[in-house]
Amino acid sequence: MMSDKPKILVTQKVPDAAYPILESFGIVEANEEEGVIWSYDELLHRAPGHDYLFCLLTDTIDARFLETCAAANPRLKMIANMAVGFNNIDVATATRLGIAVSNTPGVLTDTTADLAFGLLLATARRIPESERFLRAGRFTGWGPLLFCGAEVYGATLGIIGAGRIGQAMARRASGFNMRVLYHNRSRLSAEEEQRYNLTFVSFEELLKESDFISLHCPYTQETHHLIGEREFALMKPEAILINTARGAIIDEKALVRALQTGQIASAGLDVFENEPAIEPELLQMEHVVLAPHIGSASLKTRSLMATTAANNLLAFQKGEVPPNILNPDVLDQQ
Ligand code: DGY
Repeated sequence: MMSDKPKILVTQKVPDAAYPILESFGIVEANEEEGVIWSYDELLHRAPGHDYLFCLLTDTIDARFLETCAAANPRLKMIANMAVGFNNIDVATATRLGIAVSNTPGVLTDTTADLAFGLLLATARRIPESERFLRAGRFTGWGPLLFCGAEVYGATLGIIGAGRIGQAMARRASGFNMRVLYHNRSRLSAEEEQRYNLTFVSFEELLKESDFISLHCPYTQETHHLIGEREFALMKPEAILINTARGAIIDEKALVRALQTGQIASAGLDVFENEPAIEPELLQMEHVVLAPHIGSASLKTRSLMATTAANNLLAFQKGEVPPNILNPDVLDQQ
């Protein structure tokens, strides 16, 4: 007998907490192999005929993919992305095809800001570099010039993108008595600026004035290569660039040149332009700190992201408005 329960495809192994929610209303088909990411073609082969897709930022959900899934029986009704960023999904096409899309904002704000601030400290104070030195048996005694880095306390931090995560970064900076500049599409209210001790400046002023620049804007057509050759030329030679947002906000080749020529001092990066590929020169630079896109990677937060994504699908199934729907217009078309 055919079941009338909706079919759900989960594209990667996700935290356990998501599965009971999904199984409470649907038939779950899931990628069970931890660390295995299905290719575009494999996903395109598996997804058509599912009502719901629970996907990750590693899945490219483009127009071709959406059109194929919308033409199948049953047609795809909703996609829950287990990430706050959703640049992997063509939301405009999903909307045109009446497919709902959700993300997971809020639950990863502090975890991501912790990692951004951790990268800032690690890069400024050269922690990974000095640890490698020590483990290699090269520590022969305390030295007045050994691994001197940049001062964090009291320095100037420039935040690009003052949404939830940018503001959480500002809160951390206040504990280090930092002067915090920000630039955002729209200026925050006077009350918000006061709460986080933020000073609104132009993009150029932020680049020129900051000792640390931390990126917290979404990746869109407008922010593609927001930081490139022209922007590096405006930065201080002591500047340290932190990126926990999306890799392609930085022109990674221009970053390599800026580091090679001493246009800026260093970078702490959690995301890369062509992830998981990384510009090979970056791997050779001892003073640059690199992490494998772990901004939200605490056990608690990843679990919350997984249940948030699952609950968005559950809400849709119950005929409710999914709490994190990105294209609510499609609900009127159901
Ligand atoms: C996101 O959610 O967009 C992060 O990049 C991964 O947590």
